[in-house]
Amino acid sequence: MASTPGPPDQHDPDWEGVRLHVVTGKGGTGKTSVAAALALALAADGGRTLLIEVEGRQGIAELFGIAALPYEERKVATVSRAQLGLPGGSRATGEIFALAIDTEQALLEYLDMFYKLGRAGKALQKVGFVDFATTIAPGVRDVLLTGKACEAARRKGPDGRRAYDAIVMDAPPTGRITRFLNVNSEVAGLARFGPIHGQAQAVMRVLKSPETAVHLVTVLEEMPVQETVDGVADLSEAGLPVGGVLVNMVRPPLLDAAALAAVDGDHREEVAVALGAVGLGGRSRTAATVRAAVEPLLDPLLDQAREHAERVELERAQRIDLQQLRLPTYELPLLGEGVDLAGLYRLAGELKQQGAA
Ligand SMILES: Nc1ncnc2c1ncn2[C@@H]1O[C@H](COP(=O)(O)OP(=O)(O)OP(=O)(O)O)[C@@H](O)[C@H]1O
Ligand SMILES: [Mg+2]
Repeated sequence: MASTPGPPDQHDPDWEGVRLHVVTGKGGTGKTSVAAALALALAADGGRTLLIEVEGRQGIAELFGIAALPYEERKVATVSRAQLGLPGGSRATGEIFALAIDTEQALLEYLDMFYKLGRAGKALQKVGFVDFATTIAPGVRDVLLTGKACEAARRKGPDGRRAYDAIVMDAPPTGRITRFLNVNSEVAGLARFGPIHGQAQAVMRVLKSPETAVHLVTVLEEMPVQETVDGVADLSEAGLPVGGVLVNMVRPPLLDAAALAAVDGDHREEVAVALGAVGLGGRSRTAATVRAAVEPLLDPLLDQAREHAERVELERAQRIDLQQLRLPTYELPLLGEGVDLAGLYRLAGELKQQGAA
């Protein structure tokens, strides 16, 4: 489990039986970055993962530094344990494929699947039917997206083996995730029988099974944490399998507990002496000149320390709220430069080391 990290080779990953990983979270907390890192981590021992983007913003292509993805599964990266800075294990190379789902194409595919429209599908596209259908029934879009993810999760190659070991979906934000994943229940209710009913039910079966896990990305701030807590409640109520909590952009602690406690009281004099002692204000001068040089730095430094202490306290409170969810929890560091390709592999290494993959 995440809470008992050990040498990565000596414990099973937390999501062993999961084939479809859905990554949600409040906007801007790092869903796309974390989903991509998870896809890398899941392939690190030589597997094949598919990373699916559903919001049509080409965030994955940007992250991997490649041209916009067509509506087609494309290999975007390879990965090995060594690349993630992990010791031992297999020397195999894993592969990450990506797919940016295009709603229009997916709708045609969907229609084609049931009604074998062929050319007629193209005609429909011309007369604007697709726009019509996706605008009139926003739910249709979500049916397509979840359907595509489940199809990929279940797909087998000609040799009977799974096409992918895992699918990772960069999903809509927490506020919309339950409705998004549940849309096929509504469809199954509307179309009471026939192929659409069957397809909707099959999708719901996958989404509600132990083969699916819905992970929530958050940062240690009040709003995202509250959304995470609410999101977990919504998902559970809908019978959807809640996965883990991925705490992103965690800052390293700068001060130890004693220093944090000291910031509160009036320790101006002690700080001044300590700063002088470490050489601030010059070493070879008299105590008085050192003190004069240190003085103007004192209040700004103490203010910064107090600010830091307040944030640490706030983060502590958020961590407690998250702990009460009793879910496997992983922490990812705040990277100085944002998430570039090297950063992505670093986050993947963290996930793997903490047992998320
Ligand atoms: N661990 C991290 N350290 C530093 N920067 C990060 C980290 N994770 C994400 N970021 C940065 O935060 C920004 C938002 O990340 P990302 O696009 O992954 O979030 P998102 O939740 O998918 O956003 P959106 O809601 O817009 O889809 C990006 O600039 C990304 O580089
Ligand atoms: Mg995103």
